[in-house]
Amino acid sequence: MTGRSEFRPSRRDLLIVGAAALATPRASHALSGTAYGTDPKGAPLMTTISLDVNAETHQLELDNRTTLLDALREHLHLTGTKKGCDHGQCGACTVIVDGRRINSCLTLAVMHQGDEITTIEGLGTPDGLHPLQAAFVEHDGYQCGYCTPGQICSAVAVLAEVKAGIPSHVTADLNAPVRLTNAELRERMSGNICRCGAYSNIAEAISEVAGRSA
Ligand code: FES
Ligand code: FES
Repeated sequence: MTGRSEFRPSRRDLLIVGAAALATPRASHALSGTAYGTDPKGAPLMTTISLDVNAETHQLELDNRTTLLDALREHLHLTGTKKGCDHGQCGACTVIVDGRRINSCLTLAVMHQGDEITTIEGLGTPDGLHPLQAAFVEHDGYQCGYCTPGQICSAVAVLAEVKAGIPSHVTADLNAPVRLTNAELRERMSGNICRCGAYSNIAEAISEVAGRSA
C-alpha cells in the first residue's frame, strides 16, 4: 500500500488546516489589504482608465474598487442610472455594455476599458425620445420613476435578445424562433423590480414597441 492511498484526512482535519491558513499573517494581509484594493499601508490602489460612455470617451483615475455604477454617477455625473440595492437585486442600475444589459453595481469600472457603455442618457434626448422612452411616457410605465432608467435599458436589451433569437429560462422550444410572449416578457424583465408596482403599464409599453399586445 502506498503512502498516498493511506492519507485520508478527515473533514475536521481539513477545517483545522483551513482555519490555520487564514490565521497566518500572509492570508490575513491578502484578505484585508492588496486583494481588496489597497497597498500594504492601506492607501487605495488607483488606475487610470478610459471609459466609452454614450459614444464619448472619458479618462478617469479611479480607485480599483470603484463599481461601474459609482463611476457613472459619482465621477461622470450621469445620475440617470440609479442605485437601489447596490447588491444586484433590483435592476435600478441596469446599463447596456457591448449590447448586453448588466447590473452596474456588480462590476468594477476598471473591467470595462474599451467597452461600449450605454446609459439611459445615451438612448434618447428630451426632443427625440427613444421609442421605449416614449412608450413608457404614453403608457404611464412609472410612478416615482426611480426604477425607470433601469427598466428602459433592460427593455432595450430584451428586444435585442429576442431579435437575436436568444432563449430565456422559459423558452419551451429552443429550435423555434423566439417570440416575446407574456411569459417571455415577464421572465426577461424579472430582474427589474418596481416598488411602485407599475408592472402592467411597463409590460404594455414594451409590448407596444415590440409590436405585440400585452
Ligand atoms: Fe444594482 Fe440594485 S442597484 S441591482
Ligand atoms: Fe417607482 Fe418603479 S416607478 S419604483
